[in-house]
Amino acid sequence: MKIAVLPGDGIGPEIVAQAVKVMKALASDGLKLEMEEAPIGGAGYDAAGDPLPATTLALAKASDAVLLGAVGGPKYDALDRPLRPERGLLRIRKEMNLFANLRPALLYPELASASTLRPEVVAGLDIMIVRELTGDVYFGQPRGIEVRDGERVGFNTMLYSESEVRRVAHVAFGIAMKRNKKLCSVEKANVLECSELWKEVVIEVARKYPEVELSHMYVDNAAMQLVRNPKQFDVIVTGNIFGDILSDEASMLTGSIGMLASASLDANNKGLYEPIHGSAPDIAEKNLANPLATILSVAMMMRYTLNQEAAAQRIEAAVKKVLAQGLRTADIYTEGTKKVSCSEMGDAVLAAL
Ligand code: IPM
Ligand code: MG
Repeated sequence: MKIAVLPGDGIGPEIVAQAVKVMKALASDGLKLEMEEAPIGGAGYDAAGDPLPATTLALAKASDAVLLGAVGGPKYDALDRPLRPERGLLRIRKEMNLFANLRPALLYPELASASTLRPEVVAGLDIMIVRELTGDVYFGQPRGIEVRDGERVGFNTMLYSESEVRRVAHVAFGIAMKRNKKLCSVEKANVLECSELWKEVVIEVARKYPEVELSHMYVDNAAMQLVRNPKQFDVIVTGNIFGDILSDEASMLTGSIGMLASASLDANNKGLYEPIHGSAPDIAEKNLANPLATILSVAMMMRYTLNQEAAAQRIEAAVKKVLAQGLRTADIYTEGTKKVSCSEMGDAVLAAL
């Protein structure tokens, strides 16, 4: 199994290095894993003048799965839009057809005090957000900034085709079937035609999954319900922009964005795996970052793309063990626990593994 390793920018290289240690340990225990590194984001721009160098995209396409760190940094903010690190990420998602983005928001009991919400509101929280990732206002045409009636206007197009909604709905129903069989579709059908169609198609797909209890919620209400009573949700399916916003909100219910992994899958479950947090330039190269989200992304890779459930569980158990041992990177540190660096956390997970 070939893994393309794309560390990216900021804390990307240091967190990915810890995940690579974990993969090497699995490989030395008999899992046939082969890894190859390539630059993306700002690192891609530095190496080849392109946030997604052609060689990186080719490697990603030729691999079974991709592990990505994070992209972006102040150094690249002044570049022309097409050259910015974020464009590299958007392009690799689109080029590889990674339309289903799975973002679990899971609260580890040891970290309950890290949430800004009361423990009884978040205890046991386990939500899966399925975000459509290659359509919507992110990619819809036309888009641009132009002069109309003597002033500049900016515009984007919110657009979904039936087939785009259908395929992500199938993924979400499939995941709900393996969980608590509850799916909430989030849109803004009271205002947007695009959402009206979304809702109709989801209802149509639901007929194939009679066991799943389907509900519908407007995105503003969903944002409110997520902080009011997040445990009412099992699986949420939503479009690209609403999912971008709601998944950040949901991650903070757990208090520790540094803990959350994600998978972006195509129709054959080939995928790109990355922590949901960013490149955190302020703490880059200081060995302070939390590598657990990246390590947990490897667990998701084992589960969803490589069909190695046992390896996935082994990684997750190792992470639980280091938390139970009281080891914490700075972002999840609380009094009475032991503060460790990024590489020490990686070593502890290896030992637990
Ligand atoms: C995310 C990020 C990206 C997005 C940015 C970096 C382009 O916020 O993965 O959620 O908006 O999709
Ligand atoms: Mg985001």
